[in-house]
Amino acid sequence: MRAGQPEEEGKIFVEAEGREGTKRQLIERVAIVGAGTMGSGIAQVFAEAGVAVTLVDAAPTALQWAMAAMERNWSRSVEKSKRTPAEVDSARSRIALAHDIAAVGEADMVIEAVFEDVATKQGVLRDVDRVAAPEALLATNTSSISITQLAAATERPGRVIGMHFFNPVPVMPLVEVVRGLLTQAETVARVLACVTRLGKTPVEVHDFPGFVSNRVLLPMINEAIFCLQEGVADKDAIDAVMRLGMAHPMGPLALADLIGLDVCLNILDVLQRELGEDKYRPAPLLRKMVAAGKLGRKSGEGFFLYEG
Ligand code: CAA
Repeated sequence: MRAGQPEEEGKIFVEAEGREGTKRQLIERVAIVGAGTMGSGIAQVFAEAGVAVTLVDAAPTALQWAMAAMERNWSRSVEKSKRTPAEVDSARSRIALAHDIAAVGEADMVIEAVFEDVATKQGVLRDVDRVAAPEALLATNTSSISITQLAAATERPGRVIGMHFFNPVPVMPLVEVVRGLLTQAETVARVLACVTRLGKTPVEVHDFPGFVSNRVLLPMINEAIFCLQEGVADKDAIDAVMRLGMAHPMGPLALADLIGLDVCLNILDVLQRELGEDKYRPAPLLRKMVAAGKLGRKSGEGFFLYEG
């Protein structure tokens, strides 16, 4: 399989060589369900790559929030002369907003980007499966949940795949492409080509809890929280050690705030439960902060305070 070049704006092609010869497949329109931080970033990068996007969220304020986030990013990129106002206008014009899940019906690929919870994601995928075009691909942006388990909620497990984007989506170059047990090779090839056309790098991994990214990242963040809880050092010192000693762009506590402490807790719970090892046990301090509503940047306070 090899990725083809885009022949028309707004179309992502992959040439798949099968028994019946070479056939061209197309991802011309995507729908993204869930207009939080990740859904909004994913919508932005697809629109910038020339693809028509339908962003779906039942909550009216979520769609407004997502558009405001994109507008902030676009203003910044125009100020820095990274994009022209005309390029921004054209990206914006490719985005349609919808509250009803039925709006995914036209899409060649639907990307689920709702809250990191098995039942929530299965429910959304089940609903999407009912209304999406029969040949459409269903991708999930889960950060730790089994793709095979999520695919089982649908009638098309061969066309279900993990497409794990990283926050902030417009900046981070990686997409972890996760193949479930029943994901077909053609689905993987189409998604790999699609990620490349977004200007990002796909890395293919198998379906294990937390994949590679969060199986490695979350134990580090969790250990930083244990250090804080045990008084090994204060929050600034812990983050400074990792930034200045290990050249991480931000410290683990600030990164936890960026990801969302509730998301971190859910990922650690999945790792501990599914891999059955206590080394993934979430720090009690993390649980306490989530219970108190200190969720990180999105709530205005996590390990650090965020104004505005
Ligand atoms: N949205 C869009 N763009 C953003 C942004 C955001 N939220 N935050 C920063 N940027 C852009 C800036 O506009 C700037 O763009 P230009 O280079 O075009 O000017 C660029 O990113 C650098 O930003 P800053 O100069 O303001 O700040 P910085 O150099 O400190 O970088 C950072 C900020 C990109 C967030 C950097 O600190 C970083 O890479 N941190 C690590 C992020 C990370 O590890 N993400 C993965 C989290 S794990 C995950 O998402 C998956 C999961 O399943 C949990």
